[in-house]
Amino acid sequence: LQPSSTQQGGSALQMGICRAKGSSPGFKVALLGASGGIGQPLALLLKMNPHISVLHLYDVVNTPGVTADLSHTDTSAVVRGFVGKDQLEPALVGMELVIIPAGVPRKPGMTRDDLFNINAGIVRTLCEGVAKCCPKAVVHVISNPVNSTVPIAAEVFKKAGTYDPRRLMGVTTLDVVRANTFVAEVLGLDPAIVKVPVIGGHAGITILPILSQVTPPSSFTKDEVEYLTNRIQNGGTEVVEAKAGAGSATLSMAFAAAKFADATLRALKGEAGIVECAFVASQVTELPFFASKVLLGRNGIDEILPLGPLNEYEREGLIKLKGELKASIDKGLAFAAK
Ligand code: NAD
Ligand code: LMR
Repeated sequence: LQPSSTQQGGSALQMGICRAKGSSPGFKVALLGASGGIGQPLALLLKMNPHISVLHLYDVVNTPGVTADLSHTDTSAVVRGFVGKDQLEPALVGMELVIIPAGVPRKPGMTRDDLFNINAGIVRTLCEGVAKCCPKAVVHVISNPVNSTVPIAAEVFKKAGTYDPRRLMGVTTLDVVRANTFVAEVLGLDPAIVKVPVIGGHAGITILPILSQVTPPSSFTKDEVEYLTNRIQNGGTEVVEAKAGAGSATLSMAFAAAKFADATLRALKGEAGIVECAFVASQVTELPFFASKVLLGRNGIDEILPLGPLNEYEREGLIKLKGELKASIDKGLAFAAK
């Protein structure tokens, strides 16, 4: 099967007239769901990443056009497009990082869990492809409900005998990006210098910002804590309602996913001390998956960091979120066991 790629319409490579290029030291990355609202801006940001040498764009529709368009940007990554389920395997062979935003988004009035019936099967199929074609790849799951789709991915990899918990991460970076933005606004600071850990999961009350651990160290009034916690927990719904039926967060999500991909790739390359929040297989609580700070390294997750001291408001939030998070994890595990 020929991918639709930079070669469409007679590139120098296709016409056999391009000169040999020195091998580029970057990573090979696949984006599954590349034609969507997140997929397109994320593809652009990944094409601009100097750590990526090959970018595979896979979707069930429209990747030839997206790929032709993106291939004209003058950055060094080679971009190739793959469309339809017959091209999933060639899209995945040899990939070192696979990013998955494939699936349907929310409309106003829906919860992320309402997406389960469609997205669970999509994530399962795509992860079966990963297990077969690039079992050592690091996998970033964006498709909602993340609290269930990550456990599904883990079960698929277990069944295939390829599971390495260090290499599977649910992307919760958007919660951190939002928290940094909203906290910076309250404190009157540049968001670039604000860091807010966000733990738990990625839906409603399972999203728990730890404002007592904000850097630079800051104190908040009770009203500020309540305002910030609610705004961060409902950031996704705020965007869904503003888009009024046209989907959910895409630009901020692409920004967040590109940030997380860049952090992961720099760590895979050997840069030390890279810490990000992500939803991962975990023992920091009694739940089998949990979002918290993780130290990234050459093999994916090197270490899951302790939660650190929580204040009373955060301890209560942690107790409250566990029931909902456990139910979502169990739903994913039960689906994958069928
Ligand atoms: P979208 O509908 O704009 O795009 C989804 C893309 O997935 C489409 O191009 C579609 O063709 C493709 N797709 C569908 N089935 C596929 C399959 N089997 N294989 C490959 N591609 C397939 O949606 P979007 O706005 O890009 O959102 C995608 C997902 O990301 C949603 O589930 C949404 O809830 C989730 N999301 C997660 C976060 C997060 O923080 N983790 C943030 C925003 C959105
Ligand atoms: C988000 O947080 O923006 C995403 O999970 C999308 C959504 O449905 O809210």
